[in-house]
Amino acid sequence: MDHQTGSRMNLEKREKSAPKRPQAVTRVLSVTSGKGGVGKTHTTTNLGIALASLGYSVLVLDADLGLANVDVLLNLKPKGTLHDVLKGNLRLDDIVLEGPGSISIIPAASGVEELHELKSEAKLLLLEEIERIAYRYDYLLIDTPAGIGSDVMYFNSAAAEVVCVINGEPTSLTDTYALIKVLSSTYGEKNFSVVVNNVADESEATAAFKKLARAVERFLKVQVRYLGWIPTDGVVRECVMRQQAISAEFPSSKASLSIAAIARRVNEQKPDVTLKGGMQFFFRQLLEMTSYGEEASC
Ligand SMILES: Nc1ncnc2c1ncn2[C@@H]1O[C@H](COP(=O)(O)OP(=O)(O)O)[C@@H](O)[C@H]1O
Ligand SMILES: [Mg+2]
Repeated sequence: MDHQTGSRMNLEKREKSAPKRPQAVTRVLSVTSGKGGVGKTHTTTNLGIALASLGYSVLVLDADLGLANVDVLLNLKPKGTLHDVLKGNLRLDDIVLEGPGSISIIPAASGVEELHELKSEAKLLLLEEIERIAYRYDYLLIDTPAGIGSDVMYFNSAAAEVVCVINGEPTSLTDTYALIKVLSSTYGEKNFSVVVNNVADESEATAAFKKLARAVERFLKVQVRYLGWIPTDGVVRECVMRQQAISAEFPSSKASLSIAAIARRVNEQKPDVTLKGGMQFFFRQLLEMTSYGEEASC
């Protein structure tokens, strides 16, 4: 397929996906990591841009309620925050930002309590609003906080697919192992894939992946899928400093090309949505799980 035909098809796909698509399935992926600083936000936003350049509509939810950073990373000025939505002053539509590469972003708000600490009414309002908007997109990507706190668990186990970002450091592997252990044993999650970020070459990436895969398969009886790797690339840091997205600004850089390959793989691996998936499942799960702690503490 030549470039022009590809672009035309992308355009047609985009035009088709622009209006509401009530019958189509929105794929919900959470991007997570055992520890912070491994490149979760960079992976989520650039994966979003790469999926958008394949012709899909993408919504990124910055679920790090305590520490907003997708908007900072991309130099976007929020028109309002989730705080305003929770107070009923703004609709979620009012605060959705247009990001680079035509992705849409729901920015998080610093200072908003964690999801499980919100009152039922606020939680319901927030989730209903996100659900209403997310239905319009082909992909909902969630940039979760790091670690194994309650909200991380809720978002990860409600999402149909959990993408773990690791790097080659032993602490990243042990923390991701701990995350997969809790998600699989306590929440019954079985669908994990892995992106190895910030490594020198493919052999370092596959070595890190294999180490993790061997441990989780042996001790947790869980399968993990390899989605690909992103090399250490000076342009990433440069983009962070300039508050730009590498996949939009430098699409032919090493890191962007590898993110594009990951996006193609994500897109090829269609999950069985009859088992688990789709927006309805995601929001029902999220609501049930976040309400459970509340009822239990009553
Ligand atoms: N592939 C990479 N090449 C070079 N630097 C990277 C790469 N990935 C991440 N970084 C650096 O790591 C920092 C943390 O990335 P970030 O996505 O904010 O991590 P997280 O969201 O997991 O805390 C970035 O600001 C960037 O400087
Ligand atoms: Mg982050």
